[in-house]
Amino acid sequence: MSFAIPAPLEAEIDELITHYPVKRSASLMLLHALQEHFGWISQEAVEWTAAKLGLQPINVYELVTFYPMFRQQPVGKYQIKVCRTLSCALGGSYALHQHFCEQLGLDAHAHGPQTTKDGKFTVEFVECLASCGTAPVIMVNDAFYEGVSKTKADEIVGGCR
Ligand code: FES
Repeated sequence: MSFAIPAPLEAEIDELITHYPVKRSASLMLLHALQEHFGWISQEAVEWTAAKLGLQPINVYELVTFYPMFRQQPVGKYQIKVCRTLSCALGGSYALHQHFCEQLGLDAHAHGPQTTKDGKFTVEFVECLASCGTAPVIMVNDAFYEGVSKTKADEIVGGCR
């Protein structure tokens, strides 16, 4: 599959670059724009961004690998992020993660994000979502859910189907 940037997106990116005194400073915003369009940052996207900004691919790749909000593989339409940091772990987030995986036919013990074969759901652990007092906490795309029980998890998945 060839990598192509639609003209309107490239125009948006060109405009975005003008907001910065040096092109390199626009790196993160370019990556956000590309991820919003493609859903993830491919190797081709890294190389395109580097060429656009007059950088080496490693200069862009190090950003993509450092910041966890950048995805290095395609994800499902609904991305379920389960907090696994201390409060949520004590509040049952590991059992909740396993429940999501079982309901969706995914391997709860595999490393990294797991995506259903139909591309609809991705389940992954994330670190603290900054609502430790209402554990366990999850996000589904940009929606935030606190005190999530298995019953609530089923409702959330059902609402996405
Ligand atoms: S530990 Fe889960 S939100 Fe902070």
